[in-house]
Amino acid sequence: MNRREFIKGAILTAAFLSSGQALAYNDEEEKSGELAEQDLLRLQNREDPSVAEQKHVPAIEAPAQVRKGRWFDVKVKVGFMREHPSNPDHWITFIKLLANGQEIAKTEFPVGGVSASSATFRIRLERTSKIEAIENCNLHGTWISDPVTLTV
Ligand SMILES: [Fe+2]
Repeated sequence: MNRREFIKGAILTAAFLSSGQALAYNDEEEKSGELAEQDLLRLQNREDPSVAEQKHVPAIEAPAQVRKGRWFDVKVKVGFMREHPSNPDHWITFIKLLANGQEIAKTEFPVGGVSASSATFRIRLERTSKIEAIENCNLHGTWISDPVTLTV
């Protein structure tokens, strides 16, 4: 390796390390804080949802009444009127489930085009709870469902 190749390699290594640090910082930032309420997109046009709303607002499928402490399934579909695409360049990167405002489950889809835009979580509740789902589209932002009340 001559001097020029060494310098080029050192610069590339430095760029890689600094981008790695930036990624690590972003990961920590994401872990430390919930998404700000104002960053979440919601269904606005209830009577005539836009195509974006139809494809991005999550739908929650769960029993309206559940037994205390018993496992049951909650299915989240994106979106509530049309299935969101799953392509290598446009897909749902994560789906989260909240109970009474607290994140209780999350699934991530790191690669586009290989997972459907839905997730099923098996959970149990000790009391009547407000359930919500949040999803992120890599192109169109982070969306929250309408709340669903599950009676225990
Ligand atoms: Fe999208």
